[in-house]
Amino acid sequence: MLAGARVERGFSPQRVLQHPPVLGLTRTANYLSCGQIGSIEISSISSLRALLSDGVVRGLSIIVRLGSASMPPLLLSAQSKNVACPLCLVFSVAAMLSAQSLRELGDARGVHVGSAVNPSHLAEPEYSATLAKEFSQIEPENAMKFGPIHPAPGNYNFGPADEVAQFARSHNQLLRGAVLVWHNQNPSWVTGGKHTPEQLSSILRDHIAAVVGHYAGQVYAWDVVNEAFTAGGKLRSTIWYDSPGIGLSGTGYVEQAFRWARSADPKALLFYNDYETETINSKSDAVYAMARDFKSRGVPIDGIGFQMHLTRETERVGRMEANIRRFTALGLQVQITELDVRLPLDSGNLASPRALARQAKIYRQIVELCLKFKQCTAVQTWGFTDKYSWIPRTYPGKGDALPFDSGYKPKPAYEGIVAAFKSRRPKQP
Ligand code: G3I
Repeated sequence: MLAGARVERGFSPQRVLQHPPVLGLTRTANYLSCGQIGSIEISSISSLRALLSDGVVRGLSIIVRLGSASMPPLLLSAQSKNVACPLCLVFSVAAMLSAQSLRELGDARGVHVGSAVNPSHLAEPEYSATLAKEFSQIEPENAMKFGPIHPAPGNYNFGPADEVAQFARSHNQLLRGAVLVWHNQNPSWVTGGKHTPEQLSSILRDHIAAVVGHYAGQVYAWDVVNEAFTAGGKLRSTIWYDSPGIGLSGTGYVEQAFRWARSADPKALLFYNDYETETINSKSDAVYAMARDFKSRGVPIDGIGFQMHLTRETERVGRMEANIRRFTALGLQVQITELDVRLPLDSGNLASPRALARQAKIYRQIVELCLKFKQCTAVQTWGFTDKYSWIPRTYPGKGDALPFDSGYKPKPAYEGIVAAFKSRRPKQP
């Protein structure tokens, strides 16, 4: 009987399969007569999660979902729904499973599910409730960038990013940091200061030391440098590189930033982050050459962020795998850092059902892509609700890019992510 079924610490799915009380859904339905009380003891939430992610013990997941709200984590019990027949129970199990949050599904597959966050929205109950429920990782969309966090010489405005850090702590979420070095969103005291390379070098060194130092032990992974390359694979002209730069040639300024970041927090993971580098092209070739060089010389780089601001027309998903593989083969983590899929909007500001379905497929494919690689450790969207997305402002007539609509309802894209996490493909080594 399901009542009293026990999942022991370290139980493997194979052993569970041989364990009569925790057979699959249909058998479970047969065991549990309608309206009967069943209970289950478990000694390890994580081993249970692994079992659930394997999709074998769905009969158990209803128990956990029903019990987890009110029961202590190591002893869960539950009452089967008041249903009239096993078929109804099957139906209710399916409904419960679809109610699993993205963060629970991601946890079960070893992938952090993240979102960019604007601290000014945290006071909005639906915004914060959705963020807390669905995401295991958050990152300030703007609040840690140079301009917002360091608006005047020696004057750091940590308040807004600290709010995000506090939210992460309160909701058991990882905090990701972005970004230390970028051509954009630099304050006018930096861009207009007519500094010499030596002065700019000290400014950047002090900035990285202060910001990374402030969040040491809080931010687990930093985007250290953003978007250093052009589409053609050349180094982009920026104040940090050549206008006038910090006095280092080639990718020297990128390397220096990684070294400063590592000294400021030896434990944080350090990422290089860029857009349109998902497939093999001139830009991703340049990023790859830099990463390979850094790894060969011991420059402290831990991962590559692929932003993935995608469009409905993106036919590139199938061409991303080989690119991700070459980066993971260098011993680097990869993370999807800014995922969104923008759609054309009609005069009523709505995307067509067809476009939303296509978008759902792309979200699903991207999560499935990440799940193929053990080294792909996070999928993060750039915001989560269409109510607050950078897209309509930057691409007039486009929008609806995120998994939740403006009223915080999950869209087909959300279901696409769920479906990917429930797929059972093993990760590659
Ligand atoms: O802070 C001011 C606010 O005081 C003012 O009232 C408001 C009026 O428009 O502007 C606010 O600043 C805006 C800021 O977003 C916060 O909303 C800036 O004008 C605007 O330029 C800025 O846009 C950000 C953009 O980066 C800057 O390039 C977007 O929110 C942010 O989503 C976007 O994020 C980037 C990633 O960092 C890197 N990858 C690409 C991605 C999309 O561009």
